[in-house]
Formats: sequence, structure tokens, C-alpha cells
Amino acid sequence: MIVANWKCNGSKTMIDAWFKNYIKDSEESNGVFIGIAPPTIYIERVANIAKKKSLQIKTGSQDIDISSGARTGAISIEMILDNNCYFSIIGHSERRELFSENNIEIRQKIIKIMDKTLPILCVGETLEDNKKDFTKDVLREQLEVINNLEFNNKLVIAYEPVWAIGSGLTPDPKDINEIHKFIKDVVQSNTNNSANPSVLYGGSVNSANAASFFNEDYVDGALVGGAALDGSSFAEIVNLFNGIKQ
Ligand code: 13P
Repeated sequence: MIVANWKCNGSKTMIDAWFKNYIKDSEESNGVFIGIAPPTIYIERVANIAKKKSLQIKTGSQDIDISSGARTGAISIEMILDNNCYFSIIGHSERRELFSENNIEIRQKIIKIMDKTLPILCVGETLEDNKKDFTKDVLREQLEVINNLEFNNKLVIAYEPVWAIGSGLTPDPKDINEIHKFIKDVVQSNTNNSANPSVLYGGSVNSANAASFFNEDYVDGALVGGAALDGSSFAEIVNLFNGIKQ
């Protein structure tokens, strides 16, 4: 599973160029889930182009609001479902940091969407936590949002160390593998029906380093930011994934 998080980037012109490059460089896919989370205002445009070009690309949202109604600026789950969304990213570290999202809201969002669309829950430690060797404690606490829930559909966790996002730095692939196993164990132990999540790695993934992550057993894919803004480099990452994970 390879998912692009475009964050607050893009324009109509960028989207047209993106698809041109993606189509030029993407190889035959073996059915792997390929997703794009564009800014909400562009979801429909991206979905329409993907459909018109017969591409196996699914669109999703970068967030949802906990509710609907008198909440100026918010986008509800009903609107997301009404707009060709197959997944929603929840709890991205930028939402936690810049928009003060906490575990209570993140749990509410997960509960809202878990039976309706695919949640991609983001977790990850700061550099300070990492240096103090607190990574697993931080992740365990962030993962509390799914405690005692029953996931009848798929659940995806994205492990995105905050210090690796947009920095060009990444953990060692072996360390990522160990953390992904830890995440799977915690989720299995704490959900009512022992959910077995897919775990994506995110943080400075690009076409030069992606294979080193995909070669690890517990890495089920990637959540890609900067390198997903260009259709060619995103296609290369998808091609690598197709070649490694059958
Ligand atoms: P970068 O790939 O730009 O580091 O961003 C990762 C990310 O935050 C994806 O959600």
C-alpha cells in the first residue's frame, strides 16, 4: 500500500502535470493499493482524472472533522464519503502540532469513520523522545486511541517519526521493522477483536531509499509526503513496491 499525502500543496496545473508524469513512469501494477490524499478541494478533480485515465488510484482525505453542522471550515465524514474517498488520514503529527489535536479527538474521529472508510492513523515520536529512548512509550500512548474498539474492516497505522518528516533523515530500516512489529503487537493486544493492522512507514521516503524500507518484513507500504508531489517520483516508489512486495 502506497499513499501520497499532498498536505497543503497543489493546484489544478500541478495536478495535470502530476498525472502526465505518473502515467509516463508507472509500470504495470499488481493490484497494490495506491492512494492520494489531496487537499480536500481537489479530491473530486483527482478522482475524476484517475477514473478517466483508468488508473488504480484511490482518493482519500487528509483529515475529517469530529462532527458536522455549525463548525465553520470543517469537513465531515458524510462529505468525505460523498466525494469518492476510500480512506482518511487521522492524527497526522502536523494536525497534532499545528492544530492542537489530542488523543480524545483522534479517538472520536477513528470511531466516526472505522465502519465507513479506511482509517490511516498516524503515530510517531519526536527527536527528543527518540534520543531519550522513549519511542515505544510514546507510541503505546498514541495507540491508546484504538483501545477496546472492534475493527471489522481494515485498519492502517502509519509510523511517522516526527523528526523524519520533511527532514531527509530516516531511522535505520531494521529499527523501522522492529517498531512496526511492536505497533502490530500493541494493536492486536488492545483491540477487541485482535485487529491485525497494516503498518506503513512515513518520513522522508523517496525513490532512492524506499526499497530499503520495503525489503523489511513488517513494512506494508509507505505514506509519502514531499516525494509524492511529483508524479514521476511517486510512480518510481510504487514501481519499487510492486517489485518487492508481491
Ligand atoms: P515527507 O515524505 O515529506 O517526509 O512527509 C511524510 C509525511 O508526513 C506523510 O504524511
